[in-house]
Amino acid sequence: MKSLIVYCSEYKSNTEKIARIFAEKTDCELINIRNVKDVSDINIENYNLIGFGSGVYRESISPKLVKLVDKLNLTGKNVFVFSTSGAGMKYYNNNLIKLLDKKAAIYRGSFACKGSFNAREFTDKKIFEFMGKLSEGHPNDRDLKKAEKFFATVLDSL
Ligand SMILES: Cc1cc2nc3c(=O)[nH]c(=O)nc-3n(C[C@H](O)[C@H](O)[C@H](O)COP(=O)(O)O)c2cc1C
Repeated sequence: MKSLIVYCSEYKSNTEKIARIFAEKTDCELINIRNVKDVSDINIENYNLIGFGSGVYRESISPKLVKLVDKLNLTGKNVFVFSTSGAGMKYYNNNLIKLLDKKAAIYRGSFACKGSFNAREFTDKKIFEFMGKLSEGHPNDRDLKKAEKFFATVLDSL
């Protein structure tokens, strides 16, 4: 079975690390959204399972990824969602999950973990500085193991 992962990882390639873990486990193509000029660049007919991944930027996963998902015909496709963020919360995946549901895709689960960031680069709010400290070194080996486990459960659910 062939799978596809479309991801946005424009800050520190944290999300790309997770995408690569999934790709190592199956016959899986990785597409960095940076290289997508038009939705027609992606031929989803070839894939039975499609993962969408993104870093979280200002409380939201990449709007570019959301727009792209909205343009794809995902009816009856098995899909999953993953993100990395300073907070590492699955909550950030919810908007994309809702959209996938609206598009009649078959939702197979969601994964999130922390991704390191340097708060000083974009804010002087103390709360972000604290969050940045907690996110140091992530995704780490434990996160990668968890991602691997998550992916195994997605495959088992097919
Ligand atoms: C401009 C910017 C805004 C961010 N905003 C948030 C945020 O609102 N919440 C959060 O938990 N993390 C936030 N982060 C941290 C990123 O989500 C985290 O570093 C993530 O792993 C980046 O993924 P990437 O390296 O794949 O792009 C932000 C990072 C940047 C650069």
